[in-house]
Amino acid sequence: MRTVAPDSGELPSASPHTASTVALRGRTYHSAGGQWKAQPCDGIVAPDGGLQGDAGVRAPVTRIVTSDALDSVPETMLWNLHHRAAEARRPDAVLADPIGVELADRLAPRLERRFGVAHPLLAQAQALRALRFDQEVLRFLEFNPDGTVVALGEGLETQFWRVDNGRVQWLSVDLEEGIKARAASLPSSERLRSVAGSALDERWIDQVDQTRGVLITAQGLLMYFQPDQARGLVAGCARRLPGAWMVFDVVEPWFSRRTVSGLRNTAGYRAPPMPWGVDAQECVRLADMPDVASLERLRFPRGRGPFFGVAAPIARGRLPRPLRYLIPWTILRISFAS
Ligand SMILES: C[S@@+](CC[C@H](N)C(=O)[O-])C[C@H]1O[C@@H](n2cnc3c(N)ncnc32)[C@H](O)[C@@H]1O
Repeated sequence: MRTVAPDSGELPSASPHTASTVALRGRTYHSAGGQWKAQPCDGIVAPDGGLQGDAGVRAPVTRIVTSDALDSVPETMLWNLHHRAAEARRPDAVLADPIGVELADRLAPRLERRFGVAHPLLAQAQALRALRFDQEVLRFLEFNPDGTVVALGEGLETQFWRVDNGRVQWLSVDLEEGIKARAASLPSSERLRSVAGSALDERWIDQVDQTRGVLITAQGLLMYFQPDQARGLVAGCARRLPGAWMVFDVVEPWFSRRTVSGLRNTAGYRAPPMPWGVDAQECVRLADMPDVASLERLRFPRGRGPFFGVAAPIARGRLPRPLRYLIPWTILRISFAS
């Protein structure tokens, strides 16, 4: 596949021997067998080219994600990107995320139209959550430098480029539209593979190299499942990935109830229902599952300013309303028996 960006504003002649892709006047055209065909365009088309890929080719950014056409769960990956990047753009950011910022910059008009300007506290909260996941991956890689990280429901997370040690193997599992969005907008690497499908369909486990250590992450995913589905996913991982670690965030039952009854976020954006609320009792239930060796609640990292730098670390989850809406998650780390 050849990617070309015509300077003339017209489609070049299509070669009968080479497949090409051209972004022109907001549409994308593919050539095959010497003919150009416009790609059906039911989503946003990024106005210019994509991120610099490994091979130095600008990957075309096409149909990256359509906020309107996708259902509400995939839309949350845009919300997360928008907020994470808003924090990462700051000179005093708690998280460096250049790839995320570059992607969000390209999508900025659309993101702002849909979600409004990111609130700095929500943005910092998103970035701190991502930072905690990064710390977990880095800790895993310290002991398993050639290990495999499986990122379930990865959306437009750019964690691979924040933690890459040059050796890690990465498997991204997301619904088809999520994997398509990643492929169209983020750089590639020979150590990055993906599976398009539900994390609840255990076939992705067949793709995991278990010989050099496995860490499964699920950032912003399990709360969207029904309780039995979420527990079943953890149980399946415990059964089939002995010795692996799993890190995921969960929401408190009060927050779960609020989302089920319709929680509005910024600019009229409605957070999708999060039916799986996790309290201490549910943690015990998870810890008691067969093949689960340990379960720990992880601390939210200390951030910047009076709230994230002082109040939140002291309060440790016992925040008064409405401040607790800023950190509705707890991050859990589970290890599976070998
Ligand atoms: C809230 S976004 C989180 C994205 C990313 N992990 C982050 O933190 O920015 C939820 C992601 O889960 C994906 N997703 C939803 N249902 C899924 C499923 N059954 N299996 C795998 N991924 C799923 C969505 O496509 C989306 O990318």
